[in-house]
Amino acid sequence: MIKKWWHDKVAYQIYPKSFYDSNGDGIGDIPGIISKLDYLKDLGVDIIWLSPCYQSPLADQGYDISDYYNIDPRFGTMEDMEQLIAEAKKRNMYILMDLVVNHCSDEHEWFRKACENPDGKYGNFFYLRDKKSSGARLQDSLCELGENESNSYTSELPTNWRSYFGGSVWEDLPGTDKQYLHLFHKKQPDLNWENPELREEVYKNINWWLDKGLGGFRIDAIINIKKALPLHSYAPDREDGLCSIYAMLEEAKGIGEFLGEMRDRTFKKYDAFSVGEVFNEKPEELPDFIGDNGYFSSMFDFNETIFGGSAKGWYDAKPITPDDYKKCCFEAQAKVGDIGFLSNIIENHDEPRGVSRYIPEGDCCTESKKMLAALNFMLRGLPFIYQGQELGMENTTFTSIEDVDDISTLNEYQIALNAGLTPTAALEAVSKFSRDNARTPMQWTDGINAGFTTGTPWLKVNQNYTSINAEAQLTDPDSVLNFYKKLIALRKDPVYSETIVYGALEPVWEDQHNLMAYYRKGDKTLLVVGNYQKEVQEVALPSAYKKVLLNNLEDIASENNIIRLYGYQVLILEM
Ligand code: GLC
Ligand code: CA
Repeated sequence: MIKKWWHDKVAYQIYPKSFYDSNGDGIGDIPGIISKLDYLKDLGVDIIWLSPCYQSPLADQGYDISDYYNIDPRFGTMEDMEQLIAEAKKRNMYILMDLVVNHCSDEHEWFRKACENPDGKYGNFFYLRDKKSSGARLQDSLCELGENESNSYTSELPTNWRSYFGGSVWEDLPGTDKQYLHLFHKKQPDLNWENPELREEVYKNINWWLDKGLGGFRIDAIINIKKALPLHSYAPDREDGLCSIYAMLEEAKGIGEFLGEMRDRTFKKYDAFSVGEVFNEKPEELPDFIGDNGYFSSMFDFNETIFGGSAKGWYDAKPITPDDYKKCCFEAQAKVGDIGFLSNIIENHDEPRGVSRYIPEGDCCTESKKMLAALNFMLRGLPFIYQGQELGMENTTFTSIEDVDDISTLNEYQIALNAGLTPTAALEAVSKFSRDNARTPMQWTDGINAGFTTGTPWLKVNQNYTSINAEAQLTDPDSVLNFYKKLIALRKDPVYSETIVYGALEPVWEDQHNLMAYYRKGDKTLLVVGNYQKEVQEVALPSAYKKVLLNNLEDIASENNIIRLYGYQVLILEM
């Protein structure tokens, strides 16, 4: 494996809208981020990924970009962004922006021009299809779906795909007799990557940003850029007559041509870091994606986050147990081996808080949070911390659906109601998975609005901020925050770094219930072992350990190489 500048780094994701508000308008902003750089530096962070802060109507909180060359005034100015890059550089830190190029906003100039002249240059920047006449509709529905499956709703549409955010992916193109494709929200029209002119525009923009000194990009929703052509319908999988996008994506071949071209025309020339939001890749494709000359430097491990998902919707999802969690992590690790580097996460802006999800109900406490942190952080790969994770921030409580902002949660709530759940049960079901859990404002202090803003926060603060906040944790040596600092310091310790960064991962005692343990083997041998339950349990070491590198409790109970682990104890031992 060719060594890269980012291999030994620690990354941190900022959701700008909820990080820190510098001017009291209730919305986090770039000057706010700049004012917290020292906090991040002190934590040990090297790479900062910013969720989108480009100009946007914020229909999907910035993942709907109306100008790739501008910063949304709610987040600041281009000068602020340049200052952020410069201030980060002074501290030896790198800034990543979010690259959202599967789609843009329907308020982007390209889309407006496509509406004005669908047959002109910009019409071909999107997927436009003629609205169907009723004769064509009948013909199509019979040949695409088979007589029994034809459905009056879907047969009026170019295809029967269900948008990730609910409903059909087709929407009327305003002022025309055409429809446009949107895999996500209708305010996020898909860009046509088959069109070389569009690709040129994308590369030009990436290079423009890299020239400003960015460290690289996190690449949004990228598996969706390749569509199976010609676009056609698939067997419906719900009563709405629609089918999951995955039916189409599975059939779409040749994404590598786009991704390889993008790498060569952009990231590679700058030695930039790129991390892909990649789902459903096949094991044999891993070297193409993240091998030495992969399309990306790294890709996220979503194996834990997708566990238990149901084709029916969030309401039907199955909770994850400690044994499942272990299995998911080890599966991902085994699949990647030393082909490349995964980026490991406990949560992000699309997921509930990891401590609320992966720690059994009722057991979420400082010790179990630290255990989860260590088990995840010591995996092979690049650790990504999502804002507030270092404090052990938890899911929020929604008292009514009115509290919800996220479009995806609102859609899933409707799905749950349609499936017959009562409003109370539907709210409870979607609260567990709501993306808003991670989007509540960062908890800085125990003061008003958790010190996030002096105004009215755009999304309600989690009420537990009086007990969970950065200020209190900074001065408490036993806080979750200080435990994260120790984990980061260990990763950077010259004595152990080589092993933690490049060492192989070998699971051990895999069948022991509610126990997750693995070796990291490099020039040192480390053992990471976590007791994933509140009851005590024992493990028998093959030999005496040399040194305790990290322990989330004060003691270690060991005799004759038998270690009695207390509830949620985690140890990192040098063997
Ligand atoms: C990615 C983002 C998510 C967004 C979607 C559409 O999954 O992480 O927040 O809604 O893409 O851009
Ligand atoms: Ca602000």
